[in-house]
Amino acid sequence: PVFEYQAVMEDPETLLDWLLAVRDIGLTQVRGVPTVPGSLSTLAQRISFIRESNFGVLFNVQSRADADSNAYTAFNLPLHTDLPTRELQPGLQFLHCLVNDAEGGDSRFVDGFAIAQTLRQEDPNAYRLLCEIPVEFRNKDRRSDYRCRAPVIALDALGEVAEIRMANFLRGPLNLAAELMLPYYRAYRRFIEMTREARFQVRQRLEAGQLWCFDNRRTLHARDAFDPASGSRHFQGCYVDRDELLSRIWVLQR
Ligand code: FE2
Repeated sequence: PVFEYQAVMEDPETLLDWLLAVRDIGLTQVRGVPTVPGSLSTLAQRISFIRESNFGVLFNVQSRADADSNAYTAFNLPLHTDLPTRELQPGLQFLHCLVNDAEGGDSRFVDGFAIAQTLRQEDPNAYRLLCEIPVEFRNKDRRSDYRCRAPVIALDALGEVAEIRMANFLRGPLNLAAELMLPYYRAYRRFIEMTREARFQVRQRLEAGQLWCFDNRRTLHARDAFDPASGSRHFQGCYVDRDELLSRIWVLQR
C-alpha cells in the first residue's frame, strides 16, 4: 500500500491506516516526502522514538570509500534483515530516497513469513533445522564488535513464525556438530534460494521523495548494484521498534 506524506502527517485516520498496513502486510511506501536531509525524522517521530544504533540516529546510504557496512558501497545487497547481529533486531525500517540519479539500485523485497510457511510445507526438515539451530551473525568496525547467536526462523510461544533473521554477508563461521553440518547447510542454502524465487519477490525502483517503511523482522530487503559514475544516489534510513508501532496503533484506536 502507498500513502501520501501530507495525509500521514495531518490526518490521524490515514496515519492509523498506514500503521496497520505496516503491521499486517509488512511493506508500505510513502510518497511526497520532502527531499531535505533529516526530513525522515519528522515522519518516524510521528510514530514514536527512533531507535539509534552504531550507524547513527539516521544512517546515510551512500557509496563511501571507508565503508563499515556493505550498504555503504555500490555492490548489490542480497535479501537480508538489518542488524541480525543484535539480540533484538529493529522492528521497523525506513529507507527514504533523497536522490536517485544513478543507474541500477532497484529495491527488492520478500515476505520472510511467506517463505517460512512455504518451506514448512515443502521441506519440513529444513524448516525445523532453521527454527532450532542458532547461527552467529557478526559486524565489527574499529570501535564496535556486535555478535548474536540465534536461529534464522524464530517461533513465538505458540509455535508460529515470529521473526526472520538473515544477512548472509554478516554470518560468522558455522560451528555445528559434524553430522549437522551438511543438513544445516542444505537447509540454509534452500532458504536463500527461495528468497531469489520470483514467486516471493517484489521489485521496484524508489524515486526522490519516496520512502519504504517495512517490518524488518519479517520483510527481507535487497538492493541491486548501481553505477556510482552514472549519477548520485543518496538514501537516509532509520529504525523504530515494534513496541512503538503497536503502542501508537492502540493510542490512535483509543
Ligand atoms: Fe539493509
